[in-house]
Amino acid sequence: MHQVRVWDLPIRLFHWALVSAVALSFYTMKTGGAPFVFPVEIHGRAGLVVLGLLLFRWGWALGGSRHARLWHFLHGPGAIVDYLRALRRGPLPPYAGHNPLGGLAVLAMLVSLSVQAVSGLFLSDDIFFQAPLHDRVPADVSDTLRTLHHWNAQLLIVLIVLHLVALVVHRLKGERLVGAMVTGRKQLPARPADLAVEGTDPVRGSPWLAAVLLLVAVGVVGWLWWQL
Ligand code: HEM
Ligand code: HEM
Repeated sequence: MHQVRVWDLPIRLFHWALVSAVALSFYTMKTGGAPFVFPVEIHGRAGLVVLGLLLFRWGWALGGSRHARLWHFLHGPGAIVDYLRALRRGPLPPYAGHNPLGGLAVLAMLVSLSVQAVSGLFLSDDIFFQAPLHDRVPADVSDTLRTLHHWNAQLLIVLIVLHLVALVVHRLKGERLVGAMVTGRKQLPARPADLAVEGTDPVRGSPWLAAVLLLVAVGVVGWLWWQL
């Protein structure tokens, strides 16, 4: 068994905070929203938290730790087809970070979540809630973004269900990915294809970059939050 450090603390915090904020966003819109008196306001604030998390994650995807980087977890079509073939045959080829198919799914989720959070900034519920940038665009633009917000939410639900199904498939094939997203360490049956040179620490990103991204995310979200 190979034990590999894969997910750094920023990725793990990002993931579980994202799950909580996205769940709250859906809960407040898809149910009566009890016990909140004004669920749409909680919805907007949860959405702003999602936006802040995504600002951090996009920056970290460009310059963060090894397995967080976009060009590390995005693979070409050939690798994806090979991975799909292996999936049918039996044991999964071990990957430390996201596997070729998972990388694509992660990109789809990050893009869809970003579209959702940004489009939300221009909406109003036509009753008493106006998102921070609603008045900065003409009414027809806001209406188009509302349609986008509605349909992209359905796409997001599909992507999240696929994400959860994929985790179950991995578990059935012996890979415990959820534990890795909690502890940061993955147990793999063999040396993974995407591991850095043995003996080096593949995890560390720059603490300075993390601090700058955190400042930017808090600054942008703080400014929008203050206008709600
Ligand atoms: C990724 C985060 C978000 C998710 C998952 C999300 C999800 C949703 C969903 C499922 C609906 C109901 C749409 C429908 O079925 O027609 C909705 C509506 C709405 N969202 Fe979001 N949203 C997010 C971010 C935001 C943000 C950041 C804001 C504003 C700050 C916002 C403001 C609104 C408003 C005002 C509505 C009501 C629109 C109407 O009455 O037609 N959302 N959102
Ligand atoms: C609102 C629901 C969810 C969303 C939007 C979501 C989103 C994401 C995203 C964006 C990533 C990529 C992480 C990164 O590289 O930054 C990811 C990975 C992951 N998520 Fe989720 N997630 C959700 C629910 C869950 C739940 C409920 C679990 C566990 C039961 C889970 C377990 C994982 C695991 C284990 C990974 C790493 C997969 C791998 O090893 O390649 N997620 N998720």
